[in-house]
Amino acid sequence: MKRRFALIGTGFFAQNHLHAWAEMDDVELVAVCDVDEARVAAAAAQFGGRAYTDARTLFAAEDLDFVDIATTPPTHRMMVELAASHGVAPICQKPLAWEMSDARAMVEACEAAGVPFMVHENFRFQLPMRRIKAAIEAGAIGRPFFGRVSFRTAHDVYSAQPWLVDSERMIIVDVAVHLFDLAMCFMGDPLSLVTEALRVNPRIAGEDVATVLMRMQDATCIVDASYETRSDHNTYPQTFVTIEGTEGTITLGPDYRLQIVSGTQVIDETLVIPDRGWTSEPWNAIQDSVHATQRHWLHCLDTGEEPETSGRRTLRLLDVTLGAYASLESGARYEVGSLS
Ligand SMILES: NC(=O)c1ccc[n+]([C@@H]2O[C@H](COP(=O)([O-])OP(=O)(O)OC[C@H]3O[C@@H](n4cnc5c(N)ncnc54)[C@H](O)[C@@H]3O)[C@@H](O)[C@H]2O)c1
Repeated sequence: MKRRFALIGTGFFAQNHLHAWAEMDDVELVAVCDVDEARVAAAAAQFGGRAYTDARTLFAAEDLDFVDIATTPPTHRMMVELAASHGVAPICQKPLAWEMSDARAMVEACEAAGVPFMVHENFRFQLPMRRIKAAIEAGAIGRPFFGRVSFRTAHDVYSAQPWLVDSERMIIVDVAVHLFDLAMCFMGDPLSLVTEALRVNPRIAGEDVATVLMRMQDATCIVDASYETRSDHNTYPQTFVTIEGTEGTITLGPDYRLQIVSGTQVIDETLVIPDRGWTSEPWNAIQDSVHATQRHWLHCLDTGEEPETSGRRTLRLLDVTLGAYASLESGARYEVGSLS
């Protein structure tokens, strides 16, 4: 049985979603939707499906098993609630919302309608991140007590995503949200956090450099992100990770070099990201993770398992993300859960 789905928002990042879905023979793209007529026509021509410029018309006309929402955050709540009201399970891009109340309403709408709901939070599905998580779970480094999750680049993120220029909240909600998810995936939920952030590029509205110190029960973790870090070796869009534990250390460095020090044993390898045909460097690990994220969604639809990044689980991630801004604005430590 092929699951029938539609994709809404055929912009920049949705191209990766569309390519990844096109690889899968257990789904059928029945419709695409975008308010931009030219974009939606191009997506329908390349990937198939009927083209709509209005989501309400799409839901009224089509019989869907799920919908992939790849619009920007201001429309996420409206789209998720629309899907739930039609009994259609949504998978929705990050960040889920700008406000906890919106995110909670989305989760509640899906729970009331009895439909699964996942956030397309793809960084934890990158191949190197799965390897790190598996090593931690296998006990390779004992009990983690320190982490650092880092994304630093001077890549021009604004030409592909011009809406970031005017975003008053920028790098924390754009990329640190992924790093928080990784930190929580590897080390558990933080109890509190402190943020420092700056705007280095005077032409943008929001913060483009941020450092967040998270306090877990028995560990600390630094999340740091920058869009103004110049280097002689461009590693965009790679994330670097260090996790120190009582029995060893995991380091993911440039170019997917993974080292696991486990007691007296040292495993050193350079990970090879699968070439999916439509993927290309330097985005290949991200693109491959889009495929893995979407496969996880289908696995959960098949088995009834709660997605790792379900809407409900993502409420905690959003609380941490918005809490990072609360700390920045107040200059004080944010106690996680205060916004929930
Ligand atoms: N996970 C990642 O690595 C990653 C990377 C980039 C972007 N994203 C996320 O993807 C989402 C989209 O970002 P983008 O850069 O692709 O944006 P984009 O502006 O390129 O694409 C969004 C599309 O949604 C369409 N749209 C807006 N309102 C609509 C509506 N009411 N009905 C139908 N279509 C509508 C727009 O016309 C546009 O084509 C964001 O939430 C962003 O944070 C994730």
